[in-house]
Amino acid sequence: MTGSLALVLVILIGFSNAKKVKDNDDKLIAVALMFRHGDRTIITTYPNDPYKDLKYWPEGFGQLTNRGVERIKTFGKWFKRKYEEILPTNFGEMYFQSTNSDRTRNSSKYFISELYDDEKWQNVIKVLPWQENYYLKWNKTCNKYIEAKTRYIKYLINNLPEDFDGIFDYCTEKTGKKAVDLLYFENLHGVLENEEEERNLTLPDWTGKIYPNKTQYLSFLSFSSHSGLPILAKLANGPLFDLIINNFENNTYKLMAFACHDTQISNILKTFNSFHDIPKYAASIIFELHQTKSMGKYINILYKEDDNIRPIILENCTKNCDLKQFKEVLKPFTLTPEQWNQECTN
Ligand SMILES: *[C@@H]1O[C@H](CO)[C@@H](O)[C@H](O)[C@H]1NC(C)=O
Ligand SMILES: *[C@@H]1O[C@H](CO)[C@@H](O)[C@H](O)[C@H]1NC(C)=O
Ligand SMILES: *[C@@H]1O[C@H](CO)[C@@H](O)[C@H](O)[C@H]1NC(C)=O
Ligand SMILES: *[C@@H]1O[C@H](CO)[C@@H](O)[C@H](O)[C@H]1NC(C)=O
Ligand SMILES: *[C@@H]1O[C@H](CO)[C@@H](O)[C@H](O)[C@H]1NC(C)=O
Ligand SMILES: *[C@@H]1O[C@H](CO)[C@@H](O)[C@H](O)[C@H]1NC(C)=O
Repeated sequence: MTGSLALVLVILIGFSNAKKVKDNDDKLIAVALMFRHGDRTIITTYPNDPYKDLKYWPEGFGQLTNRGVERIKTFGKWFKRKYEEILPTNFGEMYFQSTNSDRTRNSSKYFISELYDDEKWQNVIKVLPWQENYYLKWNKTCNKYIEAKTRYIKYLINNLPEDFDGIFDYCTEKTGKKAVDLLYFENLHGVLENEEEERNLTLPDWTGKIYPNKTQYLSFLSFSSHSGLPILAKLANGPLFDLIINNFENNTYKLMAFACHDTQISNILKTFNSFHDIPKYAASIIFELHQTKSMGKYINILYKEDDNIRPIILENCTKNCDLKQFKEVLKPFTLTPEQWNQECTN
């Protein structure tokens, strides 16, 4: 009896302490979350790939694997624990968008089911048609973007370090597919890494010369290029920033979540001058909107990959960045969908 009373007291004191820290007038009022889907099978392959047969990939190409399901569930559990206080209690408080692929839709499903027991919450997952998706810029083409990007890639390729001489011809010959740009190496590195790490397959001998170091370098360069110039960063991320900032000003949604791909994550990191590695599965960027009486609304940004969490610090907008300042700093990279359309009317 005394023992359990003491325990109750300890718990009560624990709670009141925790509450004190929080009550301190600082209130978390909204969160915007971008997360990459969980582990998947290969999306592309190459003509001479010994493992291009579907028998190595019973889930199908580009599908979430069991490991991917577990990783997303672990992420969902963590998210629920950390952000319990702002988890929406009605559907109107949540904006949840997934890109239109099985692996992101499935990841969304497993994520949501960690947040809520009620299956009804599955219905908040919105999948915009490819052609209307300004926010995750998936399969929308913009000539201005493509032209600037093509020129930039050419420049990057012409300025590669010497030890990359001959790598285009070498890979073209060995893979049976012509190496033409950096995206080629983003894809090739992805396939080889996936075969080795996801399936433990033995890679062909020829890869020893270029994998992992060289393909990793070129793949990283490719990811860096997608938002590697201000104009690219603006066209790739503009409408998404507009949507998030709008919501932080208007307080419509407590939680906005976007289930996306490595490219969307790297695009934002690159724009924030914080891109150091190719995003892992379930990597996430979390924008927290806080409010205090004295400071008003302010933003903190986190980057999470598995158990590693680091703050993302923007130039001119450091820790506890005022929302107005955040908007100002992102202004060169923010576009409404209408403005995006104007820029991209070809
Ligand atoms: C993902 O979605 C597809 C299509 O709905 C389904 O066939 C597949 O089983 C799902 N995969 C997982 C891991 O849930
Ligand atoms: C992208 O859009 C084009 C044109 O509408 C369509 O043919 C293509 O299948 C789409 N790609 C994807 C991945 O949905
Ligand atoms: C991968 O293969 C190696 C050597 O063939 C083996 O020692 C190792 O246990 C395998 N790992 C997994 C996760 O299957
Ligand atoms: C690959 O990169 C790692 C880390 O930079 C380095 O230690 C290693 O020697 C490199 N391997 C080759 C074959 O260049
Ligand atoms: C947020 O409020 C501003 C100013 O009142 C308005 O222009 C904008 O359309 C609103 N955005 C949303 C998403 O409601
Ligand atoms: C930061 O602020 C300084 C001074 O106003 C300005 O010159 C600089 O361009 C700003 N940097 C960014 C990334 O906005």
